[in-house]
Formats: sequence, structure tokens, C-alpha cells
Amino acid sequence: MALEIKSIKGTQDVLPAQSYKWQFVERLFLDTARLYGFKEMRTPVFEETRLFTRSVGDTTDVVQKEMYTFTDKGGRDLTLRPEGTAGINRAVLQSGLINEALPVKVSYNISCFRNEKPQAGRFRQFHQLGVEMFGSASPSADVEVISFVNDFFAILGIEGLSLEINSIGCPTCRKEYHTALKQYFEARKDELCETCLTRLDKNPMRILDCKSPVCKEIAKDAPAVLDYLCDDCKAHFEGLKKRLDALNIAYVVNPRIVRGLDYYNKTVFEFVSGDIGAQSTVCGGGRYDGLLKSLGGNDQPALGFAMGIERLLMVAEAQGVEIPAPQPCDLYIASIGEEASIRALQLVTDLRNEGFYAECDTMGRSVKAQMKYADKIEAQFSMVLGENELAENKANIKNMQTGESCEIMLDESLVKFLYDDQIKKMTEALSMDQIEK
Ligand code: HAM
Repeated sequence: MALEIKSIKGTQDVLPAQSYKWQFVERLFLDTARLYGFKEMRTPVFEETRLFTRSVGDTTDVVQKEMYTFTDKGGRDLTLRPEGTAGINRAVLQSGLINEALPVKVSYNISCFRNEKPQAGRFRQFHQLGVEMFGSASPSADVEVISFVNDFFAILGIEGLSLEINSIGCPTCRKEYHTALKQYFEARKDELCETCLTRLDKNPMRILDCKSPVCKEIAKDAPAVLDYLCDDCKAHFEGLKKRLDALNIAYVVNPRIVRGLDYYNKTVFEFVSGDIGAQSTVCGGGRYDGLLKSLGGNDQPALGFAMGIERLLMVAEAQGVEIPAPQPCDLYIASIGEEASIRALQLVTDLRNEGFYAECDTMGRSVKAQMKYADKIEAQFSMVLGENELAENKANIKNMQTGESCEIMLDESLVKFLYDDQIKKMTEALSMDQIEK
């Protein structure tokens, strides 16, 4: 029978053969976050639509074209979050976290939703690992979040990502820049797409990240914001570069980075990969000093970044980064008859309580089929329980790789046996490591 209901285009199922990779990068991210003092925060998947129109900006592609917006049964206008920054900002204000010791530093691991045209590295449901930091106006904070990403990639073993930085100024210097942009685009008004025509008056900077090929081509020669920075923004950008140099973090200044979200000011940055095709930005972030205030809260500077887990794993795969596969089953206990199957259940429960990965039959299969399954799950050891084994409270434990076996009591000796085997494997792995070094 053909499967009638399938997943939605642009969404993905993460199957067990892949999920351990997700768990690994998520754990590594949280571990790195801990070293930098970022603590995890979780916010709802949907929010009031106006949170995003106000923060991400109503002239952005995200708000104009990509949001999953719906009215619920109570008539509320809601949206599935297209990104994490807006929700985190709302939550730090609502919870009063922003009034605690500054800087407030939070991390997150979230799913996001954007109705974009799916292609390699671009999904409609995707996942972000990110951080947000509140309270510091110093370029040291910019470097702290950039250095976090840099460290994370290094620990994961990803190489060669290019860090591109820019400053998009503040509302003061942007006035002059907007005038220059308007003049430039007015001259080529007839070629711009319809959305960009509406942006021309309201927010000409948004034309710079339009995805239409014609607008992209026109935008190539547009004035660059770096030429319009005020003294304060210039000093901040210089301070950022000085600190990146001091930490030996390589970067290139790319005056074309404007980011696709309206809340940014001053520093913006992206980590770009040459390994994954057109959707090459693995991580993006920057400052958004005015956002909290625009949401009705404290006037506190803030900044952060987010990286897409899907793109991160694509880069890891392309670079052959080895992500440790989960440990296979330590012991499979096969059984013959009901009494033995109950004893097997007791034994695997005891072993699991001791931290071992143990399995027994739950399918009522023949011993032959049980052993086939033990092979399939790559069990390290196996044993078969029948009447004799129960009567004598001992059984043969078999090494599934070498075929060697020995007799063992069905008591704490089993735990000791598996424990000794683990120590032996760890010692072997350590000495192999030393030989390789
Ligand atoms: P963003 O550049 O829109 O920034 O997204 C950050 C990252 O999410 C991208 O670099 C990419 O890896 C991933 N991403 C975005 N859209 C998709 C998609 N359709 N499919 C797959 N991956 C995608 C933000 O979202 C900001 N909130 C980042 C930030 C945090 N800025 C300050 N704090």
C-alpha cells in the first residue's frame, strides 16, 4: 500500500543513523557555552506575530514572505518562530532576567520555521544553536561571541570557515547612508523587483539582501555602509578588529554583509563555508543594541549569533569530521522459554542500572533469530539462558567478535566481567593513541 501521508516539503526526519550526530554537536555546543558562561534558555515555538514584525522588521524577506503565521481559535495572530533572537529578547524582559547581574548570557537550541524555497542547506523547518548576550556595549563582548563560534568549530574539528565581519552603523550614521542608497537605487528603479520598490522609501538597506538575481546584480555596486560610519561606530569597529587580532582570530572585512534582519546595528558577522554550495553561511550574528528598548524594555546593548545545525553537519560531513558513533550493545541475553526470558529481563535491568547497554528478547523469537538480532545490533558479548543455566545460575558468555567464550555466574560477576572488559578496551585505546602520537 502506498504511503498516503508524507512529511512536508522542506522538513526532515532525523533517523537513528543520524541522530547521534545531532546529539553530539548539541552537547558540544552546550559544553562550549558553559565554558563561556552562557546558560541555556528555552522559549515557546510560537509567539505573537507582532513580536517578529517589530524586531525582525516588516520590510525583511523573513517577515514579508517567509513566516508561518496563523490565527488560532481564540482569534490571536500567531507565528512559528522564524529565528530565536526575538523570543529570547521578549523572555529576558518578561522574566526580569535583564535586571539581574549583567551581562546576562543565554544559549539556545531551537527549531525555526521559514517558508523559503527548499534547496540544499535550506529548509522550511531548520534548527539553530545560538547565544545572546545582554548588557555590554564593549567590542570585547563582540569578540567573546565570535571567539565562542571559533572555538566551537575548532573543537568539532571543522576547518577553513571564513569569518566575515562588517559594521552597519547605528541609527545616527545610517541616516546619511540611507540617503546615499536611495539615490543609487532610484536611478535603477525600473529594474528592481516589486518588493524592493516598496523598500526603497521605507528601508533601502533591505534591497541589499534581496534574493532576486536582478536586484542582487544592481546591489553589487551600491554604496557601502563602512564609508558612512560615525566616529563612535568607527571606533567600535576598530576595537573589534584589534581584539580579533589579539586573539589570533582570522577575519576578512566584507562591506557587503548587511544581514537579513532589521534589528542589527554596528557589528555584523558571518562564518561562511566553501564546502556546502550556495547556502554557505553556517553562522550569522551581530549587535542589536536597540532591540530591547523597541520591545518596551530596558535600553541595554545586546548581541548574539545563531548557526544552523543542518548546515553545520553538512560541513562536518564534507570535511570528513569524525563524529563518534554510539557504543554498541555490551551484552545480548538470549533465552529459551518463559522462565529464562523473565530471568533475562531481570539481568538486563540490573546491568542497565549499572550503566551497561544490555538487551534481551522482547519479540518471542527463536534462539537462532535472537542471535541474528544480537549480530545486527553489534552486541559485544552474548549469552543464552535455558533451563540448565537457570538451575545452575551460570552461563557461557561469548565474545561476538572473537568467538571465545567462558563460564560466568549470573550475579555481580557479570557486572565485573563487563566492567573489566571496558577497562581493557580503554587501556588499549589509550596505548594506541600514544603509539599514534
Ligand atoms: P540568520 O542568519 O537568519 O540569523 O540565521 C542563522 C543561521 O541559521 C544561518 O547562518 C543558517 O545556518 C541557519 N538558517 C537560516 N535559515 C535557514 C534555512 N531556511 N534552512 C537552514 N538553515 C537556515 C538569525 O536567525 C539571527 N537570529 C542570528 C542572531 C542571533 N543574531 C543575533 N543573535
